[in-house]
Amino acid sequence: MKCNDNTVGDPQLKLNLLSDKNEHISSPRPLLDWSSVPTLVLAVTLLFLIVMTLLSRTSDKHRLPGPPALPFLGTRWLFWSRYKMNKLHEAYEGSAPNRAKTSPSCHNEEYLHADMFRRYGPVFAETTPGGAAIVSIAERAALEAILRTPARRPYRPPTEIVQVYRKSRPDRYASTGLVNEQGDRWHHLRRNLTSELTSPHTIQGFLPQLNSICDDFADLLASSRGYGGEVTGFEQLTNRVGLESVCGLMLGCRLGFLGRSMSGRALTLASAVKTHFRAQRDSYYGAPLWKFAPTKLYRTYVKSEETIHTIVSELMDEVRGRAEASAQDHGMQEIFLRILANPALDMRDKKAAIIDFITAGIETLANSLVFLLYLLSSREDWQEKIRKELPSTGEIDSEALAAAPSVKAAIYEAFRLLPIAPFLARILEAPLTTFVLAHTGAACRRDENFWRAREYLPERWIEPREPHAASLVAPFGRGRRMCPGKRFVEIELQLLLAKIVQRWRVCFDGELDIQFDFLLSPKSPVSLRLVEW
Ligand code: HEM
Repeated sequence: MKCNDNTVGDPQLKLNLLSDKNEHISSPRPLLDWSSVPTLVLAVTLLFLIVMTLLSRTSDKHRLPGPPALPFLGTRWLFWSRYKMNKLHEAYEGSAPNRAKTSPSCHNEEYLHADMFRRYGPVFAETTPGGAAIVSIAERAALEAILRTPARRPYRPPTEIVQVYRKSRPDRYASTGLVNEQGDRWHHLRRNLTSELTSPHTIQGFLPQLNSICDDFADLLASSRGYGGEVTGFEQLTNRVGLESVCGLMLGCRLGFLGRSMSGRALTLASAVKTHFRAQRDSYYGAPLWKFAPTKLYRTYVKSEETIHTIVSELMDEVRGRAEASAQDHGMQEIFLRILANPALDMRDKKAAIIDFITAGIETLANSLVFLLYLLSSREDWQEKIRKELPSTGEIDSEALAAAPSVKAAIYEAFRLLPIAPFLARILEAPLTTFVLAHTGAACRRDENFWRAREYLPERWIEPREPHAASLVAPFGRGRRMCPGKRFVEIELQLLLAKIVQRWRVCFDGELDIQFDFLLSPKSPVSLRLVEW
């Protein structure tokens, strides 16, 4: 640095340097001018890409319509240019429904903005970087055929980043887990891990505890309300009730996530779960560099997976300690103790499954509750109807829920219009091996499948009006790979809705911004108003 300062200040040196430059300029040009090589390389590469693209298009005349594919990138480039990864749902279908856009006057105009389905039709193909086709379907007959097709071992394409990490940790994982395994291995896990969770008996036995969890949630909402009834950061509160209830169900005891302030552990777990889903999204739709080196994305994913593993393992150890020290709470079902006692499974699989169940249960339930309340807020009349069907206070048992069909209709309609999983992925074996995305969400918002399809009308589930393609509503999937949490979630959403509407009218100011975090999620912070009746 000092040396340069001297150079700047020394006129003789400056002159020398100038004369050096002039000598360089006047010297003869080299035989090979390397300076144009990068441009040449770029031009040849571009030419190669164009030729390959044209060849791949002309070589397959029977190809389905779809966006143009580039060699080595497939159609993924679309998600790095025309579309945003966190708005992936809009790439297929235009913007997600909101209450303003569900009025009859503008729902057709909204549909005109639908994207890839408008450009290429209700059945089209994208191409993976490896050159394989991914067929997207929003057409009723084709969807019904897929959803109906029975498969003994349905193949849902695994998330590669999860597979790669779990295979690198044989100390923790004996398999890639229920969500990502296939074939006989998946079947063995499913048979041994989910029977408790899906049993009506288990959920019925959990109902009194679930009532008390939902009461505590309503109390938390009451204490979080401002003067006008507004609750800000609502999505964080819903995450906490998701966490408390799914841990309650799996671990068999209350963990206190619904206290006045959120514990550091609950915050860390909730944020790790969000990161976990987002990293899966980015690994899937972003540049696949993480496959070649431990990129930032891969490290972020690993960190979130390890944080979840550590916290849930801690919780399991605490609960096991408590269970040994005292008599068990009769109302609670310790699913995890029964899973841990199953001799047919490797201990690593048992532990991973409990962790996966808890991870799967937090955001899914929380996001579904936000979407439900957001949509229902436009229907004050329906809230009133729900309130009239319910007992005014106290525990809500299964008889009370059975006598309130408007609760179920409100929930089912929210799942039809705004499911958190907008499509189901499958690999179909016949007639050809094909990767299919069944866009049940998009199909449910098409006017040929539902009467006033883009409007939130719970009454359609009490008195159906044609068209009414009920079989297309599949928020929990279909067939043998269907979500094992379905029964639990349905009863919990009914209880939560009932407890909220018993006390307040739900109002939303403005519209909800929705993003794709591998699941559809509300963009935070979410604010709503809970107004006394
Ligand atoms: C609103 C809440 C939830 C929704 C909307 C939901 C939705 C889904 C969907 C769409 C699938 C894919 C199904 C298919 O491919 O056919 C799935 C799978 C799964 N879900 Fe859920 N889920 C929710 C809550 C839960 C909860 C609370 C748990 C655990 C307690 C859970 C555990 C799982 C598991 C383990 C799978 C993989 C099943 C397999 O591959 O065999 N989910 N879920």
